[in-house]
Amino acid sequence: MEIINIHFSEVDSTNTWSRQNYSSFDRNKITLVTADSQTAGRGRFNRYWKSPAGQNLYATFNFCVALDRSDIGNIPLILAISTCETIENFDLIPQLKWPNDILLSNKKVGGILCEVIEIDNMLGIILGIGLNINMPDEQLKLIDQPATSLFNEKKMMFKTDLVLRILCENFEKNIQDFLKDGFSVFLEKYRTYLQDSIGKKIHYYNGISRENGVLHSLNPDGSINIFFDSGEIKKVSSGEIYSRES
Ligand code: BTN
Repeated sequence: MEIINIHFSEVDSTNTWSRQNYSSFDRNKITLVTADSQTAGRGRFNRYWKSPAGQNLYATFNFCVALDRSDIGNIPLILAISTCETIENFDLIPQLKWPNDILLSNKKVGGILCEVIEIDNMLGIILGIGLNINMPDEQLKLIDQPATSLFNEKKMMFKTDLVLRILCENFEKNIQDFLKDGFSVFLEKYRTYLQDSIGKKIHYYNGISRENGVLHSLNPDGSINIFFDSGEIKKVSSGEIYSRES
């Protein structure tokens, strides 16, 4: 699928703008909305996403899939895998924190916010990614969780355009393969990026409350099984996890 880019120097949020303008997008292409800065960048669970000018990547991939497609929950995982592949291109070793936080040295370098709307009898996917590229240490410290950037890890400045170009190439190929063959072809790759957290003690957050457990295993559909301290093993397909020491 061809990618058409719409770029802003400043926008409230590339996801919000995409949602408001979806009806003008070409249904047979991917519309990529990017910005140098966002005034109201959004993260998962209604969190704020720090989006200062010119340092990072703020991008939203928009495309339509069939209304009856049941595996759309895997789409953010495909972007997470594509982002890891992109980071590897610069000789860094990324990991994923389930489901789709991108980490370097155990600190968050990127996050994905996927939203879905119904449009013209199809599902409109709004798939946003924020990736910290040249964000310096002073700014990273202001983020409410351990965070890093490509610059902070490699001690060199990156060309945001180059990172975006490689990400687009990887994502375009992977999403095409996913839409044709499903998630099974990506499962082992996804497992490898998650590997470090499997078997570890975690907090699980479902958007409302937290529970302690151990990340037991990954299922073929991308969901995980958590062995909760209550003694129950439960399959979860949404929410987020944090590692814990004890
Ligand atoms: C997360 O909470 O980890 C997800 C963060 C997603 C941030 C990106 S930046 C581009 C796009 N526009 C937004 O407002 N959010 C996403």
